[in-house]
Amino acid sequence: MKYAVISDIHGNAPALRLALDDARQQGAGAYLFVGDYSISAPWPNEVAALLRSLPNAHFVRGNDENHLDVPPGDDGQFEVSRWCARTLTADNKAWLDALPEEITLPCDGLTLRMAHSSEAFMGKALHAHFRTSAFPFRYPHSPVTREALLADFRRTMAEDEACRSAIAALEPGVYIFGHNHIQAHGCFDGRWLINPGSCGMPLDGCEFGACYTLLTIEGGSVAVEERRIPYDVEALITQVKATEQYAEARIWSETIFAEWRTRREKVASLLWYAEEYATRIGDSRRPFAKDTWQAAYAEWLTAAPQRWPELFVP
Ligand SMILES: [Fe+2]
Repeated sequence: MKYAVISDIHGNAPALRLALDDARQQGAGAYLFVGDYSISAPWPNEVAALLRSLPNAHFVRGNDENHLDVPPGDDGQFEVSRWCARTLTADNKAWLDALPEEITLPCDGLTLRMAHSSEAFMGKALHAHFRTSAFPFRYPHSPVTREALLADFRRTMAEDEACRSAIAALEPGVYIFGHNHIQAHGCFDGRWLINPGSCGMPLDGCEFGACYTLLTIEGGSVAVEERRIPYDVEALITQVKATEQYAEARIWSETIFAEWRTRREKVASLLWYAEEYATRIGDSRRPFAKDTWQAAYAEWLTAAPQRWPELFVP
């Protein structure tokens, strides 16, 4: 069986279409999705419709599925989640709500386990090295090549004591997860770790494109092929600017544009900076009120590239 393994679409329907078209051309006959289907790009219903139309598809939920349950309010901090939650149809929201946290699938004598984050299998061992917010500091220069990243991932999993012991505690089999938006895979003494990266928002510093991974299991043997379908980031941004999301959640949308352009996460530093700003002006309102959120963002735009140049490497 050849599976297309796809994660972290984040509402990016154009990227999902590219990945699905490529997967069909590559002969994929089944699909494994590991969460974060909406929030960030403005096409949550289009993504849900594509996913729900697929045959032989298995899904687990991601942490952003929980962020759709944003409390009512008119703060700035949750603008993009609130827009997405309001835009999703009730039927699509119910479908997302019903997805399980984890799945175990038998395949040709092997066991596949799927969860959104590697934490379900390995605790914090992998995240200590390959979490999204830490990635720009691990790779302060561009370009990041796939070869260097894969070698780093495999060396770290094999040599770091916490990773080694977390992997050794697993039953042999295939472990599939996303969450950190960093595409990587490796086999460690019969334990396959597969992260297909983020289809809609790659944050691994490598080439911009719709990432996913092909997993072929035949006769008990495993083959993995990473795929990354390049497309025009500026054309994508132009499309988003014409949407209601851009009008209603401009700061989030612009921050997402910056992440797409650099393939480096920005949100952690923006939230950290907003906290620092709000504390400085004596504003205790949380989530951040619109005026504070906008003022903090304006300052962050100027201050962040000096304070954290690693986040802005083109
Ligand atoms: Fe995600």
